[in-house]
Amino acid sequence: MVLWPRMNLFEFHDQSWCPAVLRQAITDCVTTAWSFTGLWRNTVPHLIELLAAAEAPHIVDLCSGSGGPLPLALAPLQARFPGLRVTFTDLYPKPEAVRALVDAGAGRIRYHAAPVDAMAVPAELRGVRTIFGAFHHFPPEAAIRLLRGASAAGQPIAVFEFQRRDFLRNMVWPTGLVGLSPVVALVQAPRRWWRAPLTLVPVIPALWAWDSVVTILRTYTPQELAEMAAAAAVPGYRWEVRDAEASGRGRITCLLGFPDPRGGVEVVRY
Ligand SMILES: C[S@@+](CC[C@H](N)C(=O)[O-])C[C@H]1O[C@@H](n2cnc3c(N)ncnc32)[C@H](O)[C@@H]1O
Repeated sequence: MVLWPRMNLFEFHDQSWCPAVLRQAITDCVTTAWSFTGLWRNTVPHLIELLAAAEAPHIVDLCSGSGGPLPLALAPLQARFPGLRVTFTDLYPKPEAVRALVDAGAGRIRYHAAPVDAMAVPAELRGVRTIFGAFHHFPPEAAIRLLRGASAAGQPIAVFEFQRRDFLRNMVWPTGLVGLSPVVALVQAPRRWWRAPLTLVPVIPALWAWDSVVTILRTYTPQELAEMAAAAAVPGYRWEVRDAEASGRGRITCLLGFPDPRGGVEVVRY
């Protein structure tokens, strides 16, 4: 059920003037939300599918923030693809957020130090592109440009969003727990001296509340995703909008694009 048109309001952590500490506080909350809701699991079967058909087992994660669900999805993905490489990227890179993962990754895991705009991915970053919890940041024109960047380069892409543009749906377990992220981040996110005071004041919960409401208002419906995918269509490249379910822990929306002679756009019930 969608009750209102998409509204492209601003999120604090998108603004160039947003202090780095607050930007990180918010992206830490998003990463925490993927983790404690268990929704990261829903992404794994779709990523395995794209990696199995890819030219090399390399994930180029766009809009990585503090890492998102990939650090958790890494174990099941590496079990299937032992040589898997992951490159995290962001317009505002936060390499320290996945430092431990990079250090333990034997050169296969890295955070691209230079800013990467998801609408203009450097040609040398070839691999399965992923965008977790960030596609709503792009207004339609920009979103189509981002999708066309993948289809024109013949690179697979997976877009995942756990919220829907429907407040009632977002109150249902487990997505409804996402509102608790600033509190859970106190114990789950990397320890920072500023986290407890900024949570108690409560600056982080206030920004999280605003950015979460705006996120819901900006989220694309499956039909809108399909229309944008159609605008980014190229021959020999297929788009599928899926309802991604795993382990019985709720559904999230995903849009997959991948080279396939069938081409076309389909909304699939997974
Ligand atoms: C809501 S966070 C999601 C972070 C992470 N993917 C996750 O799921 O936890 C959105 C991220 O998108 C990044 N971002 C926004 N616009 C971008 C752009 N044009 N290119 C690359 N990254 C962008 C922001 O800096 C932020 O880190």
